[in-house]
Amino acid sequence: MSDVVVAQSGFVLEIRFNRPEKKNALTGAMYQAVEAAFRRADEDPGLRVVLLTGTGDTFTSGNDIRDFQARAATEEGVHAPPFLAALSSLSKPLVAAVNGAAIGVGTTMLAHADLVVAARSARFVMPFTSLGLVPEAASSLLFPRLVGHQRASALLLLGEAINADKACDWGLVNRVVDDADLMDVAADYVARLAALPPEAVRQTKALIKHGRSDVPGRIEEELALFRQRLRSAEAAEAFQAFVEKRKPDFSRFL
Ligand code: COA
Repeated sequence: MSDVVVAQSGFVLEIRFNRPEKKNALTGAMYQAVEAAFRRADEDPGLRVVLLTGTGDTFTSGNDIRDFQARAATEEGVHAPPFLAALSSLSKPLVAAVNGAAIGVGTTMLAHADLVVAARSARFVMPFTSLGLVPEAASSLLFPRLVGHQRASALLLLGEAINADKACDWGLVNRVVDDADLMDVAADYVARLAALPPEAVRQTKALIKHGRSDVPGRIEEELALFRQRLRSAEAAEAFQAFVEKRKPDFSRFL
């Protein structure tokens, strides 16, 4: 089975990260598959709602770190930009069902979803600094707005993890439900959205997002830094430590 499963059911396009043996870590091919599914949802008038979830005990563990390591020396560096563009400009409502840990881009992408339901076991962490990296997906813009400067600093500077209840308190998540109920509750959101008049829904989503015209610019700004960070000695140490399953040692850096 493919690492991303895309399935249409009536008006709904379900996208499922499906690489559970690697905790749904995202490869270039996976970003491409999700991007293509978002574009399909945008273009197909028969599709009204997109549902995003993951297989197994993890929503996604974020970008594949071995892939980061392999791509560090390349000019493009990262695979995510077309995915981020499609995600942030998606015209149809996006419902995320967070079935477990959401790490790195797993959490940052949620700031672009319209409704988020989280399993009680979900947790949210953006460990960019500990990987020698900087935030992406305009999270450096959207998280301070969403949760306030100090909480955003705990999340993005410290890389502090929060559980589903705190994510709900902080406004990242609409509802926390028992793990066993996750897909039923997500299906209810999706069905309610799909039953509404589609043009009114699309126009309302566009209006809600009007205040985000600075997002594409911030995504670009972050990416320029991110590409530099990917090639840094700090990131190299962090990636190698992950591969060797040891703690990174940043003591030699100035
Ligand atoms: N990139 C590449 N491989 C990853 C990965 C990632 N982001 N996340 C998990 N994996 C791999 C592990 O290397 C391991 O592979 P192996 O079986 O070949 O050794 C496998 O997935 C299972 O992960 P493991 O760490 O054994 O599971 P766990 O339940 O103990 O921990 C996580 C799960 C997700 C908490 C942990 O794997 C983790 O912290 N991953 C890194 C997350 C991260 O920093 N992402 C980058 C964000 S920018």
